[in-house]
Amino acid sequence: MDLNITREQAWALLTEYNKDPFHLKHALTVEGTMRYFAKLLGFEEEQDFWGIVGLLHDLDFELFPDEHCIRGQAILREKGVSEDIIHATASHGYQLTVDIKPEHTMEKVLYAVDELTGLIGAVALMRPSKSVQDLELKSVKKKYKTLNFAAGCSREVIGRGAEMLGWELDYLIEQTILAMRSCEDAVQTV
Ligand SMILES: [Fe+2]
Repeated sequence: MDLNITREQAWALLTEYNKDPFHLKHALTVEGTMRYFAKLLGFEEEQDFWGIVGLLHDLDFELFPDEHCIRGQAILREKGVSEDIIHATASHGYQLTVDIKPEHTMEKVLYAVDELTGLIGAVALMRPSKSVQDLELKSVKKKYKTLNFAAGCSREVIGRGAEMLGWELDYLIEQTILAMRSCEDAVQTV
C-alpha cells in the first residue's frame, strides 16, 4: 500500500496545523492505540497506515472545528496523500459532519477508540499516578456509567463503535487500556 506520506511527514503536517499540546497528545494517543490494534488484529504489515491515520484523524479540528473531517480531506488531498488515508480519517466523522461510513476494520477501530481514549485518559488523570499503567477496566466502567464525568466523550459513539466491530464493550475498553499503556511514554513527549 502506497501511503504517499511518511510518519515524519505526517508529524510535520500535524504540527503545522496543531499547536495545542492537548490536541498533539490526543493525536499521539490515537496513533499508538491504532498501532496496538493493528498488531492485535493481524494487520501488523499495515501498522504505519493505521498509525498515520490515528495521528492525522483530527488534523483540521484545531483551526476548522466547524468543518471537521471536511477541511482535513482537502488539506490531505492537496498534499497528495493516499485516498485510503483520506477516507479513513474522514470516516470518524460519520453521522456527525460527514456521510463517510467506517468500512475497513481499521476505520471501525478509529471510530470506537477516538472518544474512548479521551474517557480513559480522563479517568487516569483522577488517579494519584495520573497513569493508565495501574488503571483497570472496573474503574473505567464506573466512570463510563457516570454520564456527567467527561461528558464530552460520547458514550453513544463508543457503544456504536463496539457494535460496528461486533465486540463486547468490556473487550473494547480492556484492549484500549492496554493500547494506551503501550504508548503512554510516547504521548508524554509533548
Ligand atoms: Fe479524535
